[in-house]
Amino acid sequence: MKRRNFIKLSGLSTAGLFVSSSIPFLSSCSNKDMNMGGNMNMGQPVPVTEGNFSALFAIPPIVGGTTTLTAQNVTANSNEFGNVKGLGYSSGGLLGPTIKVNSGQSMNVNFVNQLNEKTNIHWHGLKIPANMDGHPENFINAGGSFNYNFTVNQRAGLYWYHPHADGTTGKQVFQGLAGLVIVNDSEETALNLPSGNRELPLVIQDKRISAGSILYAPTMMDQMAGLMGQYILVNGVYAPSHNVETAKYRVRILNGSNARIYNLALSNGASFTVIGNDGGLLATPQTVNSLTVAPGERADLIIDFSSMGLNSELFLISKTFIGGNAQGKQEFKIMKFKVTTQVVDNFSIPTTLSSIAPLTESMATKTRNFEISNVDSGSMSGMMMHTINNKSYDANRIDELVPNGAVEIWTFDNTNGQEPHPMHLHGVQFQILNRTGGRGTLTALEKGWKDMALCMPGEKVKIIVPFNGYTGKFVFHCHNLEHEETGMMGQFQVS
Ligand code: C2O
Ligand code: CU
Repeated sequence: MKRRNFIKLSGLSTAGLFVSSSIPFLSSCSNKDMNMGGNMNMGQPVPVTEGNFSALFAIPPIVGGTTTLTAQNVTANSNEFGNVKGLGYSSGGLLGPTIKVNSGQSMNVNFVNQLNEKTNIHWHGLKIPANMDGHPENFINAGGSFNYNFTVNQRAGLYWYHPHADGTTGKQVFQGLAGLVIVNDSEETALNLPSGNRELPLVIQDKRISAGSILYAPTMMDQMAGLMGQYILVNGVYAPSHNVETAKYRVRILNGSNARIYNLALSNGASFTVIGNDGGLLATPQTVNSLTVAPGERADLIIDFSSMGLNSELFLISKTFIGGNAQGKQEFKIMKFKVTTQVVDNFSIPTTLSSIAPLTESMATKTRNFEISNVDSGSMSGMMMHTINNKSYDANRIDELVPNGAVEIWTFDNTNGQEPHPMHLHGVQFQILNRTGGRGTLTALEKGWKDMALCMPGEKVKIIVPFNGYTGKFVFHCHNLEHEETGMMGQFQVS
């Protein structure tokens, strides 16, 4: 057993007691659930408690590429809870400002760590030099600071930033550290997509809130399934409501949750349109009635309120889905839209959004297979671990050597797995070639450029990756942050 896993597990008994006494539905963790051998029972659902949707929707402030971010303790006013203690990148509350830059511009972020533990910033989705990328071992100690300085040279899209130091990532993201990066370019600007008050960024996250704080005290079962909370926050606000006009809105969603997957839909069953994802605009718009969005994934949507009557209400909801034992068992509301203003809206969604050349298997010079079913992990020691190819993360081991400029196929094989694993690569954008097993097909969100690939239980997902960014050492991992923290991460070196 690795020392890091032992340390994490040794504190669990007291934390577990506290959690189970304050949140009754978490107390059902039996020895049977813990048994990793034979018939595994991978965690239990954490039921969502819907609020009254009276809180005002809030949008994080927008700043330019030259700015200061200070990781710090904050107190946020979260309506139904009163004041809640958590973490933020400014004194204003949970989360951080949205950084807006044009492609080609540089970012110069003066980062200050006012926490009492190590942290850093990973710029999720950005193709930037390895020493700026927030590698888990590249951290800033308590009281320290670091200058993140790089040029943004990629497609317009919704990217994000969050802590990534080994051992403190799950906790710090859960307690509030995350923010958006919006990159614009001329291709996107020419489309005249809804903007201003009709462009709404939504960071969707579930939280556990207890005794006035966002509580991060994962039990062994939470480490197994990933830590899920009972309260769904949007941009740091629980159960918000937003007044809208009878018009089409661009709703840009980040699932910033540690582990919870959402199957997004509208409460009236209406369809909506997917125009973009992790790596920017799709080639053509895709109309759907529901959309699965995993931790780390982004969904750029057009939601049409134009045919709704004045004073009518519509909820963004998550519908049930098949996602292993702990996920997808419940339908719940996320936020409310109320139509309060009648307008004439002439926007129609362009039939072509972007030009994307599909990569084909024949372009790849190498295929790498990653077994992520985790069937054997821990069965010997009885300890909780998550692995990739039966290896848990080791900062001193490079798992894959990749020639700079190579195009490779990476296959994530969850055929025998019982848990969903949203897999993420740093430093690149890739395309998803296909999915076999499970859902057996790609969703509307999985066309175009991606930096996340969700592998549901029973699925095998094949991606094609041009390693055309920067050389250096990067990580790839499951974006279920408890899986990542319990070992489900590897390193690749591009040279
Ligand atoms: Cu969003 Cu390595 O993470
Ligand atoms: Cu995972």
